[in-house]
Amino acid sequence: MKMMTKFLSTVVLSLTCAVSMAAGGEYPWDKAPNRLNDNAALQNGAKIFVNNCLNCHSAKSMRYSKLREIGLTDEQIKNNLLFTGERVGDMMTIAMTRADGTMWFGAAAPDLTVMARSKSLNAGPPGGDYIYTYLRTFYRDTTKPTGWNNLAFPNAGMPHVLWDMQGPRELTSTVVKQVEKDGQPAWEKVTTVYGPEGYWTSNTEPLVGYNGSASETHRFKALDPQLARQYDSDMADLAAFMTWMSDPSQLKRKQIGVWVLLFLGIFFVIAWRLNASYWKHVK
Ligand code: HEC
Repeated sequence: MKMMTKFLSTVVLSLTCAVSMAAGGEYPWDKAPNRLNDNAALQNGAKIFVNNCLNCHSAKSMRYSKLREIGLTDEQIKNNLLFTGERVGDMMTIAMTRADGTMWFGAAAPDLTVMARSKSLNAGPPGGDYIYTYLRTFYRDTTKPTGWNNLAFPNAGMPHVLWDMQGPRELTSTVVKQVEKDGQPAWEKVTTVYGPEGYWTSNTEPLVGYNGSASETHRFKALDPQLARQYDSDMADLAAFMTWMSDPSQLKRKQIGVWVLLFLGIFFVIAWRLNASYWKHVK
């Protein structure tokens, strides 16, 4: 009985932790379109990844030759994805050392091989959703060392390396919060607009008679909607590729799973009929 109470209180405790964290204003992740079974999407993701991310990050547990599994030939890998004398069998390493990364960006660029898996929340949204959101929530902020900030990862040490692919955008952030005014609690709404060049304007208005709760909303406006739409699709491909990379056998595992279930189904019917015929004459 004591064990049971202990167990239940642990469960309740961990549930309340999760809820209060959600209320703490973590930026909610967008749902990445599922393109794990789409080889063309995975190949596009691989191309964007190798061309834009390996400058700073490594993917040390990934070999270029593994890209055959998403339908690329050695010829395609060699012509499109290899630059400085690497061979198809090589690992995806980089020239920049961790020390250089820390010096230039204030933080080392982490290895990305299993990033998608490590960001996935237990029974929550998959890590591909985080990557999809992270790469689409950069905004210009001249107060930061890199000139960029990020909603999903505030104060990230990484600049928005794909900014030209996404095109210019404007962010409007609206924060409703409680403040103290003349010793009395009061509410105010602060609206901050971050322009595409990084300059921002902020406007504070008092909310008289407000009896709601604190809130924070963010809205992006793409100044080149067509470019931004293409970017969203490319980031879905990239997130899918990074999800695949974090666990390349998952596609095969699912295929094998289907055959195993099919086999079990057929075996069940055989065992059932066999059982019936064994017992037919036994009374
Ligand atoms: C100019 C160097 C640079 C390039 C290029 C770059 N990154 Fe980063 N990235 C960093 C640094 C530095 C960090 C560590 C940031 C920190 O911890 O503040 C980082 C962190 C990350 C993280 C971890 C974020 C987190 O929540 O911990 C992810 C995911 C990521 N990068 C993905 C990418 C992808 C995908 C690309 C290619 C499109 C890319 N990066 C290109 C420098 C770079």
